[in-house]
Amino acid sequence: MNNLLKGKKGIIFGALNDKSIAWKVALKCHEQGAEFVLTNAPIAMRMGEINNLAAICNNAQIIPCDVSKNEDMENLITKSMEILGGKIDFILHSVGMSLNIRKGRSYTDLDYKFSHETYDISSMSLHRLLQTCYKMDAINDWGSVVALTYIAAQRVFPDYNEMADAKALLESIARSFGYHYGKRNKVRINTISQSPTATTAGSGVKGFGDFFDYAGALSPLGNASSEACADYCALMFSDLSRMVTMQNLFHDGGFSNTGFSYDVFKLMENKNS
Ligand SMILES: NC(=O)c1ccc[n+]([C@@H]2O[C@H](COP(=O)([O-])OP(=O)(O)OC[C@H]3O[C@@H](n4cnc5c(N)ncnc54)[C@H](O)[C@@H]3O)[C@@H](O)[C@H]2O)c1
Repeated sequence: MNNLLKGKKGIIFGALNDKSIAWKVALKCHEQGAEFVLTNAPIAMRMGEINNLAAICNNAQIIPCDVSKNEDMENLITKSMEILGGKIDFILHSVGMSLNIRKGRSYTDLDYKFSHETYDISSMSLHRLLQTCYKMDAINDWGSVVALTYIAAQRVFPDYNEMADAKALLESIARSFGYHYGKRNKVRINTISQSPTATTAGSGVKGFGDFFDYAGALSPLGNASSEACADYCALMFSDLSRMVTMQNLFHDGGFSNTGFSYDVFKLMENKNS
């Protein structure tokens, strides 16, 4: 522990179970001296696992929030400031849900009602969060907001479905709001584009195991784990990254810049034999 986040107060969205990236981020932020509120959709709370995380993290308070509801978001921000005794220094947006994937609809056969819901939960929620904080002046100057994204926003992964469009919108919102919040309060907003990771959301994508192996074989450093992602988030919440904003930051072991690797051939041979 080197107290990188000592004195900082935050909100962490999206810890569903101990596989969740947000779970690992919460543990890391706790280890680094931060104090924070945990939040998730009311329906996710019923599984109860978040209580175990809260207990480990100095009995962190848990506030339910469906990110697609304005009133939930306002309640979350108001209560978080009450609990933490002031404005917020960092926020992790670790929320994603594809209704079309869940219902087995392909990209060429989207149900647009499902798509609306996907965009609302997975992308517009970042705008809703930032706009709520902006209007309530809820984030301290030089605060840092990180949202998790995936490279399907830039390159085609056919079974990632409408989530690819959702992530493109998410990254755009981070840039656009990053400008306005940066100008007014020096608040930093970035997305971290994480390697495929075996979580509830990740494993829900068709063929996850195959593209997890493929990405690992292509990346010179291999796939980035959720623990490594948590380290990167902690760095982004700290003052050590204070001039970084409006960026999409690849945290993928080099995958995004690699065109070819013999390890991919070996993998294919093994899969075909
Ligand atoms: N797992 C991967 O391969 C991978 C790769 C890159 C980026 N990501 C992104 O990381 C983030 C976290 O996902 P994860 O992989 O840890 O999976 P996860 O399933 O553990 O987390 C997703 C979270 O979103 C929450 N959520 C869904 N609908 C919600 C709503 N209406 N209101 C509030 N919360 C809601 C879920 O309850 C859950 O906690 C997501 O944005 C995901 O797209 C994941």
